[in-house]
Amino acid sequence: MSAKQYQFIPPSRSIKWLGVIATIGMYIVNMVGFLDTQTGSALGCGPDWPLCNGQVIPNLRNIHVLIEFGHRVLVGGFALIATIFMIWALVRYGKWIEVKVFALVGIGFIVVQSALGALAVVFVNPPPVLALHLGFGLLAMVGVGLLTVFLFQLDAQIKGRNAGIAFRRHTSSATKKWVWGTWIYTYLAIYWGSYVAFRGAGEACPSWPLCNGKVFPGFSGLVGLDFIHRLAAVGLAILSAGLLWHLRQYKTSRPDLYRGAFWLFWAVIAQIVTGANLALSHVATGPYLLHIATLMLLFADISYLVLQVVPAEPLDEPAKKQSSDVPWPQAQAHNPQA
Ligand code: HEM
Repeated sequence: MSAKQYQFIPPSRSIKWLGVIATIGMYIVNMVGFLDTQTGSALGCGPDWPLCNGQVIPNLRNIHVLIEFGHRVLVGGFALIATIFMIWALVRYGKWIEVKVFALVGIGFIVVQSALGALAVVFVNPPPVLALHLGFGLLAMVGVGLLTVFLFQLDAQIKGRNAGIAFRRHTSSATKKWVWGTWIYTYLAIYWGSYVAFRGAGEACPSWPLCNGKVFPGFSGLVGLDFIHRLAAVGLAILSAGLLWHLRQYKTSRPDLYRGAFWLFWAVIAQIVTGANLALSHVATGPYLLHIATLMLLFADISYLVLQVVPAEPLDEPAKKQSSDVPWPQAQAHNPQA
């Protein structure tokens, strides 16, 4: 069968917008999860799961019960929406490797995260394990979010607009190393931040920019853990500035990468500002949620950059024929980059 006979159906409006709802939902679920942990509400339903204090709908007048029960309801609702979205995408567009990978990451981490969340109610986990939860929640959100981004890109590309997919075939290996290196560093910095929080070290340096009046307070004890968190932030600021500098040459030829690096740099600055505010507030709930809200945007941004440097399958060689009103070769003719 010649390439000319292949045809594509652009992703429908419904699946794309379900993806947007699922992504926002995963963001909210993560935020409420953090609120749950930070306010010490994880046991608001007692050691019961799936019931809450032995009831289907508990008495919600206690704030910890309200937060924990709200978290469970939101997780259940949005995880269901996200799973329906990802299965739909797999069934309909599963021939694209991106769809397979992001749907499996999304579904896999929703399952792992829910299982760990349920187990955390029953068993007491050590800080290194608790810190892993955070990363899994972020990966689930990123899987759903990138799948949504990809469907929007695919839709635009099939309709003949350049949506960034075609760019991906022209990424230098130096750029790939920069982006992947920044992603790995960011993930580790996030893990460390979470470990610091679970070790109860967040208030060890209640001043900023100095830690208890010292430029170098040392690496031992809780102060050391908190200080390393700050050093990791400085490292991330340098790395994101370096990435932006590296990508400045692609400002017009790869606007997807340049813009991603631009927003990453400012997200890291925002992360540091909200971190300083959090330290000065003695880890109050509002500043904490602000630190987390920025963190998730930052991680989503660097994950998007990873998508944009993974080589795309040649789009004119689909694996299967699909019926459509927009033949792919015709769509490509409108798109000199593809
Ligand atoms: C730019 C990189 C940064 C990243 C990626 C980052 C990430 C994180 C993460 C993941 C947490 C733990 C959330 C949790 O699991 O509860 C956290 C907590 C925290 N971060 Fe950061 N952070 C950064 C910068 C900073 C800076 C510069 C400061 C201070 C100047 C700071 C101060 C704090 C404090 C005080 C906590 C609270 C710990 C607690 O709950 O006890 N962060 N951060």
